[in-house]
Amino acid sequence: MRCATVKGTSAVTLLDLQGLSVTIPSPAGPVRAVRSIDLRIAKGEIHGLIGESGCGKTMTGMALLGLTPAGAQVAARVFQFDGIDLSTSAAVLRGRRIALISQDPAAALNPVLTIGRQMDNVLRTHSPHSEADRRAGAVALLAATGLPDADKLMTSYPHQLSGGMQQRVVIAQALATGADFLIADEPTTALDVAVGAQVLALLRQLVADRGLTILMITHDMDVVAAVCDRATVLYAGLSVETGPASAILTCPRHPYAAALLAALPDAAPHGQRLAAIDGQIPPSTKPISGCAFAPRCPAAMTLCHTVSPPVRVQGDHLWACHLAEGAP
Ligand SMILES: Nc1ncnc2c1ncn2[C@@H]1O[C@H](COP(=O)(O)OP(=O)(O)O)[C@@H](O)[C@H]1O
Ligand code: SF4
Ligand SMILES: [Mg+2]
Repeated sequence: MRCATVKGTSAVTLLDLQGLSVTIPSPAGPVRAVRSIDLRIAKGEIHGLIGESGCGKTMTGMALLGLTPAGAQVAARVFQFDGIDLSTSAAVLRGRRIALISQDPAAALNPVLTIGRQMDNVLRTHSPHSEADRRAGAVALLAATGLPDADKLMTSYPHQLSGGMQQRVVIAQALATGADFLIADEPTTALDVAVGAQVLALLRQLVADRGLTILMITHDMDVVAAVCDRATVLYAGLSVETGPASAILTCPRHPYAAALLAALPDAAPHGQRLAAIDGQIPPSTKPISGCAFAPRCPAAMTLCHTVSPPVRVQGDHLWACHLAEGAP
């Protein structure tokens, strides 16, 4: 199939990461959790960050939140959020402009506090309003996430809610901080398929209604297809392809992205769609020579094993490969 040229975009950039690396000390030597990731996200976009387990998705999110493990070294050529330098301000922006929605809502909520108390704990630190106004605000935010009987829910405890309802409360808490950038780390993994689809629809609606921007971390191409405007594919701590989600899904250029799609039958069970490529990601304790994907790549050439691939650019679609046109 001949792929259409993807035009560039003039959208306003909110997040700009170039050459992000996160290195964690360990007894086995430094762990290169993130080797070099470029990520540019426009305001109002849902941007998918996709790749197999261990490729550095969560650690990228943690770097944005200023929550990397003790002793980790975080470096980048460019590390900016809305023009603010994240290398010095990530912790300040966390819970003000940037909030996390994790894959385990039960763990994100305090089991011994009511939903109302937990909402108020967030609102108190972010608004000067009276207790009555904060209560009304909490109910409105819970209702905005589609929770029925939001008023009654204020006196409930997390264990009285289903997983899908708990995730909506976590989203309401994120909104209560006033954050305009959400990092959603596999937010539907712990939910069944139908409930997960409802949570994705809610996030899409919040982007439209409130002008949010979302980094959608996922290992599931279905999630990219369902809600993402653009996506970045990670492999072994490296960003290997980025572009409009539709272009990556229909015309992947990097052989790894192509293998992710081609190797997976439509009948693959939901949530297990990235398990089908032969071979392993290189160990994160080992340096990489040449292209990281070379040992698994069906199109690998001799130089792929020793020379880092160049970045190919076609409009708004970028990929790193020695093949000028990308995946055959
Ligand atoms: N606290 C940690 N200490 C040492 N290594 C870690 C730590 N957290 C993650 N890693 C390693 O960093 C790499 C990337 O992890 P992660 O970002 O969690 O991957 P993903 O979210 O894509 O599954 C993996 O090799 C993982 O083992
Ligand atoms: S650079 Fe070579 S090994 Fe790497 S993805 Fe491209 S063809 Fe495959
Ligand atoms: Mg993860």
